[in-house]
Amino acid sequence: MFDYSFFDEIYDRSNTSAIKYTSLPIAEKMPVIPMWIADMDFKSSPAITEALKKVADHGIYGYGEIDDEYKELVTDWYNRRMNWKIEKDELLTMPGVMFGVTMAIRALTKENDAVLICQPVYYPFENVVLNNNRKLVVNELVLNNGRYEIDFKDFEEKIVKENVKVFLFCSPHNPVARVWEKSELTKIAEICLRHNVYIISDEIHSDFIYEGSEHIPFSMLSEEIKMKTVTCVAPSKTFNIAGIQASNMIVPDDKLREKILKERTSTCYHHLNIMSIEATKAAYKDSEEWLDGLLKYLKRNVEILQKAFPEDYKVTALKMDGTYLAWLDCRKLNLSADELDDLFLKKAGVWLHNGTTFGKGGEGFMRMNIACPSSVLEEAVKRIKSVL
Ligand SMILES: Cc1ncc(COP(=O)(O)O)c(C=O)c1O
Repeated sequence: MFDYSFFDEIYDRSNTSAIKYTSLPIAEKMPVIPMWIADMDFKSSPAITEALKKVADHGIYGYGEIDDEYKELVTDWYNRRMNWKIEKDELLTMPGVMFGVTMAIRALTKENDAVLICQPVYYPFENVVLNNNRKLVVNELVLNNGRYEIDFKDFEEKIVKENVKVFLFCSPHNPVARVWEKSELTKIAEICLRHNVYIISDEIHSDFIYEGSEHIPFSMLSEEIKMKTVTCVAPSKTFNIAGIQASNMIVPDDKLREKILKERTSTCYHHLNIMSIEATKAAYKDSEEWLDGLLKYLKRNVEILQKAFPEDYKVTALKMDGTYLAWLDCRKLNLSADELDDLFLKKAGVWLHNGTTFGKGGEGFMRMNIACPSSVLEEAVKRIKSVL
């Protein structure tokens, strides 16, 4: 049912309060194609739209509260798709993943405690550490033969030297599109256990995995690691409902969960809104077929991109294990960050995220959101190649 034609459709998103389109910068003589922030230009699953229409038709928008069915649908999803068994009472709701990450950081650390992140990474990771007056410690990913890896020696040395309390992990990793392998996860787990480091594992992209890769929830590694891990997940990226704001956190350790709940209570945030509850239920109950169609479509976009920017070309699209956020290696162009912005945005009319936004190691790279109709991606590729 959800074949390519469903995702091929181009929609006008201007005048819909969509941030991706509200502040389009200016290019030379052409409308800009926005491929920066991580939401998709596809319609969400019809089941979700139907569920939201039902709420709107009812016309009463009071306070919401999740029920047992909500918890069952969320836990069943991870059990079914990742073989990850979650108890219903391990679940906490949050209005957003980064809100949840903030709560977890506040619960697990005190001011000036050190928090480790691997850059280049989703830039709010750095902000959430600094804005909460924690000490930022950065382990830089290393690029080996077109594949990003963790420098475990540096990872452990920094943990010891800086007395790191929490590792804020991005799995799969945005940007760089890595889906971490079991051997890598196991090494992280061993080091964190050795030095008593808690893990906040942001797994918001874990539904976007391509053939040949497998997402392993960090919490599944062992009973011991499960008790030291806070996992953040959400239907938001997966079903393109980020603007409706719902996310879930899995915290198996009772004491930890209590602490995080206390932080959440301190913000006076108590309930998901009724739109987000109904959308989440429709996502996990009736939208699996839509997602499977989407994944096939995205895989085709990955292939279009990789064919256009092969290894021996001026710009190379790195291999993608997962996510819809491609990472373009532009280092051969020898341009500064400003010059790259100028080339891609002003000259080609394609708005990407500059790699420097994502911290150390981002220089010379651009992040490209390829969750759009293939014809739009092809036009963007054509524009970029014409200015190269
Ligand atoms: C790794 C990662 N975490 C969190 C978010 C944002 O999630 P939320 O909007 O629920 O805070 C994003 C969005 O791009 C992301 O890539």
